[in-house]
Amino acid sequence: MKPESQSTSCHKYVLVFLLITLFSFILFTYININRSSPDIEPTLIFTMKEGIMTILLWTWPFGDRFTLNHCENSGEDQGCFFTADRNYYLTANAVIFHHRDVCQSKSQMPQITRPPGQYWVWFNLESPSHSPNLGFMDNLINLTMSYRSDSDIFTPYGWLVKNNINQNFTIPKKTLLAAWVVSNWNPSSKRVQYYQELNKHMQIDVYGRQHKTLPHAGMQDTISKYKFYFSFENSQHRDYITEKLWRNALAFGAVPVILGSTRENYERFIPRDSFIHVDDFPSPKGLADYLHELDKDKERYERYFKWRAKLRSKSDNSWATHYCKACKGLKEAPAYRTMPSLVTWYT
Ligand SMILES: *[C@@H]1O[C@H](CO)[C@@H](O)[C@H](O)[C@H]1NC(C)=O
Ligand SMILES: *[C@@H]1O[C@H](CO)[C@@H](O)[C@H](O)[C@H]1NC(C)=O
Repeated sequence: MKPESQSTSCHKYVLVFLLITLFSFILFTYININRSSPDIEPTLIFTMKEGIMTILLWTWPFGDRFTLNHCENSGEDQGCFFTADRNYYLTANAVIFHHRDVCQSKSQMPQITRPPGQYWVWFNLESPSHSPNLGFMDNLINLTMSYRSDSDIFTPYGWLVKNNINQNFTIPKKTLLAAWVVSNWNPSSKRVQYYQELNKHMQIDVYGRQHKTLPHAGMQDTISKYKFYFSFENSQHRDYITEKLWRNALAFGAVPVILGSTRENYERFIPRDSFIHVDDFPSPKGLADYLHELDKDKERYERYFKWRAKLRSKSDNSWATHYCKACKGLKEAPAYRTMPSLVTWYT
């Protein structure tokens, strides 16, 4: 009995000794790794991933989730891995910040030091009038991603595509004169004031929250019946051309009447004979008179569709399309770039 119990307790000592040794070894290794990790970890993992660029979405834009890593144009996301999991922060090559999700307070930005070489990308599709606290971003941002054509990553609301062969565009059947869809009715805005003056001289059907209802599903059917669509932007800024032009007017086959940035600015994106601009007329009455003339003159009205033989418009404002553009943009980005002040650029 006795020798056996002695031998058991001896085994116990050996076991405890072994455990302590093992534990010390693990602890020592752990401390060592941790001590060196701030210096070596990012580079180590970048090389491990063999040229795959990890792109972290710091937030889902406005909380909207969508499928990542399934870009519409094949190859567009080749060599990139998109994720919205913040556990990738330390190893991401780029982090995209959607302005409106982080602009409330600085605490919404990462509180840990940025790993060396990581790009911070500022993403915004709202106009400067609706982009508060731009100053937060001073000396933080490396690359811009927006509707502004001089962004590092250009994400417009729509664009034109060349037709391979000339097309005979079929103008949708027109039975009505002019429509405007407005959800945010601000009486002091330029567009509402212009509308109120214009409405004294012509019939305009207004849809939206405080007006005629327009079910989303029936939008195209409804708008395409109108000869003219008022693409009135909520604020006037260079390149700020939204789905009010690309989808509501061009995609639905109505002639756009534009209130936004200058005619010259629009002509950088669409043909000069594809739209009517409020600045073409000395007054709202002048515009109303012109639209009435076109209404009676089929041939002149149809000239606004001639450009569609060679070009077609594409309206695509899905989050996936915008974010997919970041892959190529980041792969081509300079190794070092800073954006000291967004406020002075985003006007
Ligand atoms: C377009 O219409 C014109 C004139 O009606 C016709 O001569 C031409 O062949 C048509 N082109 C196509 C691509 O259908
Ligand atoms: C990004 O910008 C920050 C702040 O200006 C700068 O410290 C950092 O070196 C830049 N990184 C790159 C990759 O350009």
